[in-house]
Amino acid sequence: ASILILNGPNLNLLGTRQPEVYGHVTLDDIAAQCRAHAADAGWDITFEQSNHEGALIDWLHGARGVHAGVILNAGAYTHTSIALMDAIASIEVPVVEVHLSNIHARERFRHQSRIAPVAIGQIAGFGAKGYILAVDALIDHLEQLGT
Ligand code: DQA
Repeated sequence: ASILILNGPNLNLLGTRQPEVYGHVTLDDIAAQCRAHAADAGWDITFEQSNHEGALIDWLHGARGVHAGVILNAGAYTHTSIALMDAIASIEVPVVEVHLSNIHARERFRHQSRIAPVAIGQIAGFGAKGYILAVDALIDHLEQLGT
C-alpha cells in the first residue's frame, strides 16, 4: 500500500531557505528518511513537490484509488487556499497536515490553516521529524481503518 507525501511552494528550497526557521535538511533528505521509515512498516511512499496550487490539487485528485492516505505540507497555501481545502474535502482519502515550523507561534497570518478543518490532524513545530511523526500517525490511522 502507498502513501502520497505532497509538498507545496518554496519547499524545494529547503536546506538553504531561512535555515534558522526551517533547518538545514533538504527535501530530498526528508524524502529518503520517510521512504526508509515507511518501508520498515511495509508502506511505499510517493513524494512530490510543486510551487503551483493547481498541480497540488491535481495530485490530490489523483490520489483517489491510488494512495491510501496523504501527508500534506501546503506551505503558504495552507493559510489561503480554499481550493486545496475543497479538494481534500472532495476526495475520500485521509490527509495529515504537517509543518516544519510551529505555525501557531509565528505571525498571526500563519495561525489559520485552511487545511486543518479537513485533515485528520496536524503536526507542526518538530522540523523534518514531523514528517516521520506524520507517517506513523497516518499508518496507525489507516491500519485502524483496516487499510
Ligand atoms: C510551512 C509554514 C508556512 O507558514 C510557510 O508558508 C511555509 C512552510 C512549514 O512547513 O513550516 O512555506 O508550511
